[in-house]
Amino acid sequence: MKVSLMPALAIIITLTCSISCCNETGYRIIDGTIVYPTPDRPEDQIPMIGFAAEPIDTVRVGFIGLGMRGPGAVDRMSHIEGVKTVAICDLYHEKLEPVQKILEERGKPRAAEYSGESGWKELCEREDIDLVYIATPWLTHTPMAVYAMEQGKHVAIEVPAATSIEECWQLVNTAEKTRRHCMMLENCVYDFFELTTLNMAQHGLFGEVIHAEGAYIHNLDPFWKEYQDNWRHEFNRKNRGDVYPTHGLGPACWALDIHRGDRMKTLIAMDTDPFNGKKLAGLSDSEDYSNGDHTTTLIRTEKGKTIEIQHNVVTPRPYNRMYLIEGTEGFANKYPKQGFAIRTQGREGDNVGHNSFGIDNLDGEKYVDHETHDSLMSIYRHPIVREDSIVETAKRVGGHGGMDFIMDYRLIYCLRNGLPLDQDVYDAVEWSCLIELTRVSIENGNKPVAMPDFTRGDWNKTNGVKLHIKK
Ligand SMILES: NC(=O)c1ccc[n+]([C@@H]2O[C@H](COP(=O)([O-])OP(=O)(O)OC[C@H]3O[C@@H](n4cnc5c(N)ncnc54)[C@H](O)[C@@H]3O)[C@@H](O)[C@H]2O)c1
Repeated sequence: MKVSLMPALAIIITLTCSISCCNETGYRIIDGTIVYPTPDRPEDQIPMIGFAAEPIDTVRVGFIGLGMRGPGAVDRMSHIEGVKTVAICDLYHEKLEPVQKILEERGKPRAAEYSGESGWKELCEREDIDLVYIATPWLTHTPMAVYAMEQGKHVAIEVPAATSIEECWQLVNTAEKTRRHCMMLENCVYDFFELTTLNMAQHGLFGEVIHAEGAYIHNLDPFWKEYQDNWRHEFNRKNRGDVYPTHGLGPACWALDIHRGDRMKTLIAMDTDPFNGKKLAGLSDSEDYSNGDHTTTLIRTEKGKTIEIQHNVVTPRPYNRMYLIEGTEGFANKYPKQGFAIRTQGREGDNVGHNSFGIDNLDGEKYVDHETHDSLMSIYRHPIVREDSIVETAKRVGGHGGMDFIMDYRLIYCLRNGLPLDQDVYDAVEWSCLIELTRVSIENGNKPVAMPDFTRGDWNKTNGVKLHIKK
């Protein structure tokens, strides 16, 4: 009897050692890797890859959140043809009038006003709104976006779209169920250098792109006090990990065709102690502050590529998004010096490749000279910013040098023409999910995390990022 129980006992002991359940957020640790379950797609949901809605002639917009970011969005939209600002909303009524002034100065009608705790819901319930544009604190993004989609609205959500894996699935499920666009307003993919290098990558100038880097390194000293009710410090106080990953990750993911031929598979994160964060939040020694001053994340993809992402908003150093693409034949980076290094050998089948300039100083070891750099920037200017008038308006209207305008312009252009949006709901959640995944990796002694596949197996069904233009 004793002998026959031994194998069963051994199995139980092995299972207990290799699988431990941390049910707080639903993940398990299996053979040293943190693994999240992928819920089955409910039968009434349809994947959103390539989704395009019916064209909307005039896009009627409702804005929620009129702090540092929101009013600029209202202003930018007032420069775009085919947009009508129908309603504006903020928790605090006094934030509305300055935005009405912006509309008046632009010769636009005043918008309907909403404020207070339930103002945003009332705005979402209006029948004359096509798009709800959300620029509120992070924890409100997903609840607002889900509610707006349930009311039949498309949504555009400031970064990050979600703050947990649970919220990521809520966005995916709601978009798939309601068949509404859910775009995160990741503006950094629209910066001119990033767009040009994406185009160069798609023309094969870097060979196979095998590694990308990105970051949000921005000393926020001048801004901390401006966040309404101190929401940003509050979030950082409670959460370890990269809490603002999307500016770095967005352009890196586009260069690596994430969920358009490849997928992020494994992640590991590590942080420093909160040396400065705690001081900046004005906390005493006995109070806790979770977010490390500098957080680094490494990601490996299904196809054997890597991504490095960093976050640091509290040390005195120059702004840096670390944007870098490295391929088998070439390289591009933006900070601190913007430049390219490319091998002399032309790419087969690339009829606008660098060989056509007769350039012979490309040895792949040094940056190309200024003249070559400028030629590459001009020849590979992305088709979505080919029209000079768009670029001129973007630079004039502004928003981080024009990329914010290009983002809003593209959102409206695609909605008006019934085209798939540049960023879909899977981008939104893949770029936002680092918030929880990096925290969980760090809290478990920097363990690897198997990244959830939010496309539920559809990551390899299309080939490369496509920014659609009307035929
Ligand atoms: N993409 C970028 O480059 C960029 C730059 C700055 C900020 N952001 C993002 O924009 C968002 C807003 O940031 P911010 O700097 O404007 O913060 P902020 O604190 O200045 O503004 C937030 C506004 O939302 C309002 N608000 C809060 N709860 C609300 C509710 N329940 N209903 C209606 N209004 C509510 C607040 O009263 C405030 O006016 C954040 O998600 C931030 O990450 C993005």
